[in-house]
Amino acid sequence: MSEPTLRFPDGFVWGGATAAYQIEGAAREDGRGPSIWDTFSRTPGAVFQGHTGDVACDHYHRYAGDVALMAELGLRAYRFSVSWPRVRPDGTGPVEPRGLDFYDRLTDALLDAGLDPIVTLYHWDLPQALEDRGGWTVRETAEHFAEYALAVHGRLGDRVRTWTTLNEPWCSAYLGYGSGVHAPGRRDAGDAFRAVHHLLLGHGLAARALRAAGAETLGITLNLADVQPADAGSAADAEAVRLVDGLHNRIFLDPLTGGGYPADVLAHVSRIVAPDFIRDGDEKLIAAPLDLLGLNYYAPTYVAGRPGGAGGDAYPGTAGAVEFLPPAGPLTEMGWSIEPAGLTRLLERVAADHPGLPLMITENGGAFPDTGLDERGGVADADRVAYLDGHLRAAHEAIARGVDLRGYLVWSVLDNFEWAEGYRKRFGIVHVDYLTQRRTPKHSARWYQEVIARNGL
Ligand code: FCB
Repeated sequence: MSEPTLRFPDGFVWGGATAAYQIEGAAREDGRGPSIWDTFSRTPGAVFQGHTGDVACDHYHRYAGDVALMAELGLRAYRFSVSWPRVRPDGTGPVEPRGLDFYDRLTDALLDAGLDPIVTLYHWDLPQALEDRGGWTVRETAEHFAEYALAVHGRLGDRVRTWTTLNEPWCSAYLGYGSGVHAPGRRDAGDAFRAVHHLLLGHGLAARALRAAGAETLGITLNLADVQPADAGSAADAEAVRLVDGLHNRIFLDPLTGGGYPADVLAHVSRIVAPDFIRDGDEKLIAAPLDLLGLNYYAPTYVAGRPGGAGGDAYPGTAGAVEFLPPAGPLTEMGWSIEPAGLTRLLERVAADHPGLPLMITENGGAFPDTGLDERGGVADADRVAYLDGHLRAAHEAIARGVDLRGYLVWSVLDNFEWAEGYRKRFGIVHVDYLTQRRTPKHSARWYQEVIARNGL
């Protein structure tokens, strides 16, 4: 094997990521209760062609083969999420041991195969019973989240070292309660901000409880945005950047790292809803010490400051002031721009603003049409290889500039249920035939296998 020209640090964690609702299927098995995504995917018009996660990749039954495949590809870590409604079907009542049994088996299979399990406790599948009582717009949900987190830790804590609480609370809050394109599909700016706060509070309560229970490495995953001005010389665009960056990044980062909510963001929120849901002491609870910050990066965001601008549905209060630029090419199949430099900028910015906080890329990858075939009928996904290669170079550049980046987890190990897009968008490095459930590594999987083996590019 040739020597890499770009080497990653020794011990760099190479892995892949998935999420429960996107791959598990078995939606009504072993006592699992309904989640907001079961309900939402059955809402007419909400998900492409009414696709649901009922069967998905049938990973619930096929996990052993999936773990063996990951081991064959050389992955060292696997980030999966635990389904809250499998563990506590109605969100608050008795724990369902059969739900925990599944994650117990999965954890053992991973460890036996030499993969480090990285657990995400919440990747968007809130028990429907809790949504019926207000969901993330009410404080009790945060408290129930901490109880559920402890139940999972009670079963897996002897083997799982790395725990992350939430995946992308930005999406849960703003897409779930603001623009309504994700479950539960509510559209109310005030509710979006209530959800932001209760998600953060849930993180803080869970992190404290897990720490007390002995969890080793505690973190959270954010989909921070690399927000850039349309015109670097424009004061109006700089102001738009400040507003969007506040709503997307600082509203999470600052309280999580002990700074509390930024004053400018709080002032903006207060113009939309009275922030009486933030109680004394909450910011302290949210600031539970973090050992690791997970970043998911896909594409940059370009904005301009424009009176009368359309704003963004997922950015309450930006209409009339901000214009979001249409993504510039080249684009992935999601219509997201491919700009690896945004990843370097983002990593450097977080490292500069929050020194001493180890970072991990917990998701990065691309959806492409996957129409290229090789002579044996395998998926020749050159565009995905190029996307991943570009972003790994960008990550390496950040490390070279001093960022403490500990690992990279590709999104995703398998093609899967891509939320509102259903199964039509494929992010996997492994192709899934949804009729036969056959898994076939794409060229990107073999390419990634070599990257891991060389620890470099
Ligand atoms: C992220 C989600 C993940 C996946 C990718 C494409 O926002 O965390 O589940 O859908 O986008």
